[in-house]
Amino acid sequence: MRIEDEVVRIARSAAALEAFFEGVESGQAPRPDWLHLQTGARLSELPLERWPALLGRIHRNVRRGFRTGETHPGRGGEWLRRWRTIASHGFHDFGEEGYAKAYDSPWVEDHDYIGPYLDGGLEALDAYAVYGSVLGSHSFDVEAFVATRACADVRTVIEPMAGTAEFAYHGHFRFPDFRYVMIDLDVEARNRVEARPWLPETEHHYFVSDVLDEEVWKQAKTISSGPSLAFVGKQSHQLFDPRQLVRLLELGTMHADALVLETPPVVLASELAHEEDLSRPEMRAAGLEVALVDEPDGDPNPFTNRLAFRLEARDASGSRTLFRYPRWTMYSPPTLSALAELQGIEALYFHSELGEFVPVDHPAGDTDCHDNVNFMLFTRDARRARHGA
Ligand SMILES: C[S@@+](CC[C@H](N)C(=O)[O-])C[C@H]1O[C@@H](n2cnc3c(N)ncnc32)[C@H](O)[C@@H]1O
Repeated sequence: MRIEDEVVRIARSAAALEAFFEGVESGQAPRPDWLHLQTGARLSELPLERWPALLGRIHRNVRRGFRTGETHPGRGGEWLRRWRTIASHGFHDFGEEGYAKAYDSPWVEDHDYIGPYLDGGLEALDAYAVYGSVLGSHSFDVEAFVATRACADVRTVIEPMAGTAEFAYHGHFRFPDFRYVMIDLDVEARNRVEARPWLPETEHHYFVSDVLDEEVWKQAKTISSGPSLAFVGKQSHQLFDPRQLVRLLELGTMHADALVLETPPVVLASELAHEEDLSRPEMRAAGLEVALVDEPDGDPNPFTNRLAFRLEARDASGSRTLFRYPRWTMYSPPTLSALAELQGIEALYFHSELGEFVPVDHPAGDTDCHDNVNFMLFTRDARRARHGA
C-alpha cells in the first residue's frame, strides 16, 4: 500500500555518497525516503569499525532508510556482527523494504534483540522485540488510510489492543498534529510505548484498560479532536469470542467514526499447518528459532474456526513460550460482514487496486483482495461509507 511516490537517491561510489551527504546537510537537496548504496558505496566497502559513524550520518539524511546490496543472510559470525551493528544504530530489516527507521524519526533506536540473547540465552530474550521482528512490522500505516476518501478527514487515531502500538507510534511522525489514543490491558506494553521517544508536540495517551469497557471509549472520545479512526492490527480482534467481537464492533463504531480491522483471507483454521516457522536470518545465525506452534489441546475446529497456539522461541538449550494465544477465532470477512449487517453497521473492505475502502458488495475483480490479508472498515456513518463507493 504505497500511496505516494517515494524519493530514492542512489550512490555508487564513496565520492557520490559524500556529495549526497553534503547536498542534504547544506540544505541544498531534500532528504530522500531511501538511499541505495551500490557498487563502490556499499557498506561492505568499509571496515566494520567505520559503520557506526556512516550509519549515524545516513540516519540524519534519510526519511525511511537505506538498501545495500551485499549482505548474505546466514553467513555465521561475521554476517551476524554486521546485522547487529546496523540494528543497534537505528535501522532494522523486519519489513521487506530495506533497512528502515521509523519514518523521519530523528532518534536512533536500538533494534538489536540478538545481543541480550547471546549474553543470557532464551530467558534474556526480549519477547516484545521478538514479536516485533517477526509479526510486528507493517507495510501499511496511518498515511495509507488517511489517503482514502472514507478516512480523509481523520484527525485522531485510536489503537485498541495496541500492544507495542507500532501503528500509532509510526503514524505520529507523519501526522504529529493528530491525537493518538492507545488501549491495552498490558502494563508492560504501555511502559515500553511511553518510554519511546515521541515528538514533543504530539498529544498521545495510552490507557491500560479493557477495550470492551465503554468508559475507555468515552474517555477516548473526549480526547479526540476531529473525526477518529480506530485501528486493530494483526487480527487481534480474533482473540475475542463472538459476543466480545460484537461488543467491539458496537463500541468501536459508536465512539469512533471508523473502525478498521486487519482481516485474514477466507481460510479454514483446520487447514493451517500445526506449526509456522518464523525464524529470521539473524536468529538462525545466532542458533535461535522462533515459530507459531499449536497448543496440544487447541486442535483447530472447522465449525468454530477456533484454535489455540503460542509464539515459541527455541535453541539447543530448550524452548520458551513468548506469548500465548489460548483462544483465537478466525473470523472470515463474510462472518464480519454478517455481524455488521445484524447490527446495522456499514461494512467496507480495502480495494488494493483502487487504494480505497469500498462497500463489501463492490466487485473485487481480479485484485488480490480475496486472497491476502486485508482491512475491513466499519462505520455507522452512511455518508462516510458512500465516500468509498
Ligand atoms: C497480538 S497482540 C497485537 C498487538 C498490536 N495490535 C499489533 O498489531 O502488533 C494483541 C494485544 O491485545 C491485547 N488485548 C487482549 N485483550 C484485550 C482487551 N480485552 N482489551 C485491551 N487489550 C486487549 C493484548 O494485551 C495484546 O497486547
